[in-house]
Amino acid sequence: MSSLTNKRILLGVTGGIAAYKSAELIRRLQDAGAEVRVVMTAAATEFITPLTLQALSGNPVYQDMLDADAEAAMGHIQLARWADLVLVAPATADFIARLANGQGNDLLTTLCLACTSPIAVAPSMNQAMWTNQVTQQNQDNLLQNGVRFFGPGEGLQACGETGPGRLLEPLQLVDLAAAIFPSSILSGKHVLITAGPTREAIDPVRYISNHSSGKQGFALAEAAVEAGASVTLIAGPTHLQTPDRVQRIDVISTQEMFSAVLAEAKNSDIYIGVAAVADFRPAHPVEQKIKKGQGSNETLSIELIENPDIIATVAELDPKPFTVGFAAETDNLIEYAKAKLISKRLDMIVANDVSDSSIGFNSDENKTTVIWDSDQKVIPQMSKHNVAREVIELIAARQKARLRT
Ligand code: C5P
Repeated sequence: MSSLTNKRILLGVTGGIAAYKSAELIRRLQDAGAEVRVVMTAAATEFITPLTLQALSGNPVYQDMLDADAEAAMGHIQLARWADLVLVAPATADFIARLANGQGNDLLTTLCLACTSPIAVAPSMNQAMWTNQVTQQNQDNLLQNGVRFFGPGEGLQACGETGPGRLLEPLQLVDLAAAIFPSSILSGKHVLITAGPTREAIDPVRYISNHSSGKQGFALAEAAVEAGASVTLIAGPTHLQTPDRVQRIDVISTQEMFSAVLAEAKNSDIYIGVAAVADFRPAHPVEQKIKKGQGSNETLSIELIENPDIIATVAELDPKPFTVGFAAETDNLIEYAKAKLISKRLDMIVANDVSDSSIGFNSDENKTTVIWDSDQKVIPQMSKHNVAREVIELIAARQKARLRT
């Protein structure tokens, strides 16, 4: 099944009576997982207001190429680059003619000229205008240049005539748009990932933490997006850049991570706990900075209490997402990892040898063994990005197998 998860659709609306259907189309595209931005021609604004489409798309509506403010925010070239698909619905005979002739006399035609992603046109016009030889020749030209035509449908028209020229229904347009993109292994899935360390406050200036860089978790988020998933990344403190199309939630402490995960896990198909979560936190963090000499006999004791086990809690949810843990170990790697797989009721665990400095915490490479109920697979040393791709492939296959049982 193909889906529009993560896809960026630039919806062009031109001036026909069917422009009112673009409001519904925006909603249906969003339901299928797409992000939608809208460009309207001047004539389209006579049929439906930019404000309506702005409110529905959640983004400003672009109308004028010579608007300095709009160009400064997101210019026509950036919009063309942003789009994975330009869908013009409804497309009038005039728009089709201008596109077929390579004109760039408004924002929408200019954008189409600059766009290297697929362009699809959903015609909407009176049946005589559609069957007119000139319109048909324009369609042929565009088809030869790789532009796709969605419809038109046939039936009763706004003008009272019957024939070809009706805009297809929004759901038909969504299906045709989705069919342009090859289905990927995680299409339509929502993946929740934790990454990085957590910090546990001792006082306002000191904390307990660990060496986790977050690199492996961020690479997994990127690989999951590549595989077609929508991804939420809950990150402890790290300086890493958020991968494109990933929704990021920043947290500091384990308890914050715990709350954020529980709020998101119910809506997730897959949970990957990569974060190096602090198992303990100071029982009584102090409000003022601790001064030298506050301890006795030159020692200072900090009482620690156990943090909630985030992944074990996720694995107890009903229904639970396909739950994948990471085990960072310095010895008895496979044995300890298998024990965690069982004790935390995980579906899969990725075992990491962190005693080897060429892999693990801060390095750019990793070598892991992925273990699940009946089998295991060694992923030899390679970049964390490639490890992430391999792990995502295994997760997708196992999750699919679990859904079948
Ligand atoms: O028990 P250990 O910390 O080695 O287990 C590692 C796995 O458990 C990782 O997936 C980590 O994200 C998760 N974990 C957790 N909550 C904790 C401790 C670990 O989710 N409090």
